[in-house]
Amino acid sequence: MYKYTKANTHSTRILLLHAHQPTYIKMQKLAVLLALLAATAIACSDAGAAVRMQLTRTDAGRGFTRRELLRRMALRSKARAARLLSRAANGGGTVSPAQLDDDDGAPDAEYLVRFAVGTPPQPVQLELDTGSDLTWTQCEPCAACFDQALPYFNTALSSTLAVPPCFSSECQALPLSSCGTQNGWGDFTCVYTYSYADNCVTTGILHRDTFTFAGAAAERSVVPGLAFGCGVFNSGSFDLNETGIAGFGRGPLSLPSQLKVANFSYCLAAINGSAASHFLLGLPANLYGSGRGTVQTTPLIQNPQAPSFYYLSLKGITVGSTKLPIPESTFALTNDGMGGTFIDSGTSMTMLPKDVYKLVHDAFVAQVKLPVQNLTAMSGHLCFSVPPMAKPTIPKLVFHFEGATLDLPQENYMFEMEEAGSSFTCLALDATDAGEDALTIIGNYQQQNMHVLYDLANNKLSFVSAQCDKV
Ligand SMILES: *[C@@H]1O[C@H](CO)[C@@H](O)[C@H](O)[C@H]1NC(C)=O
Ligand SMILES: *[C@@H]1O[C@H](CO)[C@@H](O)[C@H](O)[C@H]1NC(C)=O
Ligand SMILES: *[C@@H]1O[C@H](CO)[C@@H](O)[C@H](O)[C@H]1NC(C)=O
Ligand SMILES: *[C@@H]1O[C@H](CO)[C@@H](O)[C@H](O)[C@H]1NC(C)=O
Repeated sequence: MYKYTKANTHSTRILLLHAHQPTYIKMQKLAVLLALLAATAIACSDAGAAVRMQLTRTDAGRGFTRRELLRRMALRSKARAARLLSRAANGGGTVSPAQLDDDDGAPDAEYLVRFAVGTPPQPVQLELDTGSDLTWTQCEPCAACFDQALPYFNTALSSTLAVPPCFSSECQALPLSSCGTQNGWGDFTCVYTYSYADNCVTTGILHRDTFTFAGAAAERSVVPGLAFGCGVFNSGSFDLNETGIAGFGRGPLSLPSQLKVANFSYCLAAINGSAASHFLLGLPANLYGSGRGTVQTTPLIQNPQAPSFYYLSLKGITVGSTKLPIPESTFALTNDGMGGTFIDSGTSMTMLPKDVYKLVHDAFVAQVKLPVQNLTAMSGHLCFSVPPMAKPTIPKLVFHFEGATLDLPQENYMFEMEEAGSSFTCLALDATDAGEDALTIIGNYQQQNMHVLYDLANNKLSFVSAQCDKV
């Protein structure tokens, strides 16, 4: 059954190429032949590889106080929202002025994945990004790279390296690419520039090589022929531990697409703990066995204007027993692909449109019987002072999606901390700075200790509470 579908997809590709590019075929027979071979290579590479990876939180184990953690989370979420917002607005892949006020040097990344590229394998450590597609790492000889702790990837050391031509389907899938010349980047190489709206940009050459993924214990997956960018002009806000970005979006170049997995999932351990989080591509369905609640399932929606993002259909929000008076259209995509709600690995705090945030804020102020504390250091975050020994009653927070209810445990939306000997509990949600576009981003703070499954084959997202340190 699966094989049949695969063969079908494969011939459809070729038919499409013939049907839609007749003049191209006449003009450049050789080029088309090579392009067909490249397309075949994608279609026939090991389908449905099962891959398990560990995720590292960038801020984990670095001695930050809880106040610092909250502040860094808030800063990153704001910066990320600004980045994604302008990407969404521009259809992705275009640079707009930096909106990132990165005053305390917090890197953008929330989670890093580590795997290896080439034969023999060279380690890379990349920012996990469900909002973009290209996977890239810094390469020798680096013309303009940011500092990284690991050595730059050296193409000369890999025996399995290939260079897809500029007319290959992988190269054509890039938003901005060109053909290298003999005097420049090498004849017919695929020279790309991939930019993120916060001014992070990578320029380099597309390559194909074997990736080695190592899970916990002795699990290892070796997958040949995956396309990735060898970045040689790279800039942006990166941590010393990062060597680039791993694209887990919905486009053809993303890792899930290239690995041809029917689904992927992650389970994010509590952010204050030291347990590793897990990321699984094409895993067996029985992982849900660890869940305590019922599995909730909601459709994944596609936005042609921002095809990489995983949009959801959010319908409403309840605080305590109050269903907030928010018109459903507030969370929906507009006809021209603006606004909407998507789920993101790289945003920490869920970001709400300003008006919605105000309603949630006011509902908490009305229902929590504690003094509101204006902590200037928290850039206006809603915090309550908690008297010594008190066990405050915090209202429930529920997100209603089409067909699914996200009934958050308290530790997934309140953040407790000490400041000058007093205790506070703060709401871990924030408002986007956007003008008119009411974008909502479901962040990873709200996804702690949940198993979240992206069912790509059926365009659905499922989640269930789980103890992620036990997965
Ligand atoms: C880099 O990662 C290691 C563990 O993987 C950690 O101990 C170290 O603090 C990290 N350094 C930075 C600058 O993030
Ligand atoms: C993390 O926070 C939760 C809720 O605030 C708490 O129950 C748990 O004990 C904390 N874990 C650690 C390791 O601090
Ligand atoms: C995920 O995909 C794999 C095949 O790649 C399949 O065996 C598994 O049942 C799927 N899991 C779920 C939860 O659908
Ligand atoms: C907190 O302080 C800011 C500026 O200092 C002010 O604009 C805001 O209204 C204050 N919020 C509360 C709830 O007191």
